[in-house]
Amino acid sequence: MRAWVMSDLHVDSTMYRLPPTPPEIDAIIIAGDVTDGHEGSAAWLSEHAVPRGLPVLYIAGNHDFFGHDLRVGFEEPYEAAGVTLLHAGRPTTTIAGCRFVGATLWTDYRVAGDEGSARAWARLNMPDMLSIDVGMRRVSTRDLLEEHARQRALLELELSNPHDGPTVVITHHAPHPRSLRSPVQLDPSDGSFASDLADLMDAFEPAAWVHGHTHVSRDFYHNATRVVCNPRGPVLTTKTGRRIGNAGFIEKLVIEV
Ligand SMILES: [Fe+2]
Repeated sequence: MRAWVMSDLHVDSTMYRLPPTPPEIDAIIIAGDVTDGHEGSAAWLSEHAVPRGLPVLYIAGNHDFFGHDLRVGFEEPYEAAGVTLLHAGRPTTTIAGCRFVGATLWTDYRVAGDEGSARAWARLNMPDMLSIDVGMRRVSTRDLLEEHARQRALLELELSNPHDGPTVVITHHAPHPRSLRSPVQLDPSDGSFASDLADLMDAFEPAAWVHGHTHVSRDFYHNATRVVCNPRGPVLTTKTGRRIGNAGFIEKLVIEV
């Protein structure tokens, strides 16, 4: 299985068009945050990714939920676009013998140790808190913590099913402290970006774990699992006309499992 991997295109910052399809690939993996709102992301995927004629595997990122209710189904625009959305209602699909297991993931706010200060930082700083609804109120860190616990348990259950062939896990939020901006100096902000799921990697040894969300490029091994993050991130133009974004973004990153 050869998969073209990217995330966090944030096409609302500046428009993005995919380069020509790399040769001999079997699937396109986009690990969330094409833009703000499910409809906008599904529309971009429909126009730019689906016409490449390959399975497009998508995970909703936190930005995809902006303007939406966390607990209301969001599959419809992706299904209408011909995208293979992996989510809590359908976390697994198999393509050419390779199993893909995925969900948004969210976080447990514990990666830096102190859950209370990580949740306080999130309440003040994460745009999710102002942009995602639960019923008639805004989302809370408790909602996201509970959602993380459910999705983590679901990933564990899916991974525990035997599969004869490689497995790739796809999440939006990061599964390992080494995915963070500074893996050695953790602070309360890190709790909104990653959780430590190394125990799942050790127990089930997926060949790869693709994620997004951090806007920093990562490609490392945790024992048998290759952890890959290839985010474009928002591209912003400075007053002098200089464009800044994630310099590590590789437009045609292909992983093979
Ligand atoms: Fe994100």
